[in-house]
Amino acid sequence: MRPLPFQSGKTVTDTPNLKASAIAHANIAVAKYWGKRNNEINLPYTDSIAFNVDALVTETTACWNDDDFRDGLVINGWEVPAQNIGRLQRILDAIRQKTGLTQRCILHSKNNFNLATGLASSASGCAAAALAASKAAGLDLNESELSSLARLGSGSAARSIPDGWTRWHAGTREDGSDSYAVSIAPPNHWPLHVFVVQVSDTPKSISSTDAMRKCQDSPFWQTYLNETKDAADIAQNAIVQRDFAALTAAMHHNTMLLHALAMTCQPPILFLAPKSLELIQHILRSSQAMQVCCTLDAGANVVILCEEVCWPFVKNDIIALGLPYIQTHIGHGARLI
Ligand code: PMV
Repeated sequence: MRPLPFQSGKTVTDTPNLKASAIAHANIAVAKYWGKRNNEINLPYTDSIAFNVDALVTETTACWNDDDFRDGLVINGWEVPAQNIGRLQRILDAIRQKTGLTQRCILHSKNNFNLATGLASSASGCAAAALAASKAAGLDLNESELSSLARLGSGSAARSIPDGWTRWHAGTREDGSDSYAVSIAPPNHWPLHVFVVQVSDTPKSISSTDAMRKCQDSPFWQTYLNETKDAADIAQNAIVQRDFAALTAAMHHNTMLLHALAMTCQPPILFLAPKSLELIQHILRSSQAMQVCCTLDAGANVVILCEEVCWPFVKNDIIALGLPYIQTHIGHGARLI
C-alpha cells in the first residue's frame, strides 16, 4: 500500500527507536554575521561572536519513520507546509547522506517566543533540530560537527550549539568543514543581565538571507567588510577580559554598521521601528553613566546587556516606554532532553 502523506495529529511515539528530543537557545550577535560567501551551505565572510539567551528556547522532538513519504515540521502545534521547511530540509538530507537512512523525519518543535521577528528563532530551531534529528538517526556527532550541521539550516544556528559566549569561525574551506562555532566562555563567566525587549511582534518584511544578498549591492558593502574584519577579535577580547566599556563600543559600532548598510540598499531596508530608536537613544544616553549597552539583529526588537548593579535602572527605562520585555541571563548550548 502506498504510504499516506504526513498527517497532522500524528504523534511522535509511533516509532520509538528513532526518536530524540533536544533544546537550544536563541543567540544574539555582538559581532554579527552578515553576508555569505556560499549561499547553499551558509558560509560567512567573517567570524562572528554571540551569546545564548537563557529565556529564549526551542524544544524539538525528531522522529524518523517509514510511514511518511516526506519530511514534516510541526511548530507550536501548527503543521508547516512542506515547501516551507526548506532550511531544515538541508539538515535532514545531510543526516540521510551520513547515515544511509532512507526514512523521513517528522520534527515537532515548540518555541517560547515569536518567530521571524529578529530574535533568532531560526537559530534555536535549527540547532535543536540538528541535535534531535542526528541523535534520533543514531549519529553521535561532536560539537563542531553538530555546529556545522545546524549551520546548514541557518548560519547563526551554528552558534546555538556551544555553551555561553560563542565564536563562529568563518573558515576558508569550500566544503565548510572548518566553519563552525566554539564556546569562548561559559554562561557564568560574566553574570550580566539580558533584557529582550519586544518592540514588534510582526514578522519582518524581508528574510536575513534576502537582506544579506541585497546589502552586497550597497555602495558601502566593501567599506562594511573592511570595517568589520576585526570585529570578532575585538568583541572576544572584551568578553574574555570582562571589559564592559570595550564590549559596549564593539557592540554599538557593529550594530550601527549593519543597520546603516541595510539602509543604503535600493530599495532601503529599515529594520528599526520608532520605538526601537527611542529605546536605543535611552540606552546610548545611559551607557555614558553606567554599564549598559544594546543591539538589534535583523529586526526591530532590542536586546540589552547590563551589569548586575544596573538592572533596576534599565528596567525602569524599558517600563517607561511601555514595552514588553523578558529579563534573563546568558544561556547554555544545545542539549538532549
Ligand atoms: O542565521 P540567519 O540567516 O538568520 O542570519 C542572522 C543574521 C543576524 O542575526 C542579523 C546576525 C547574526 O550574526 O546573528
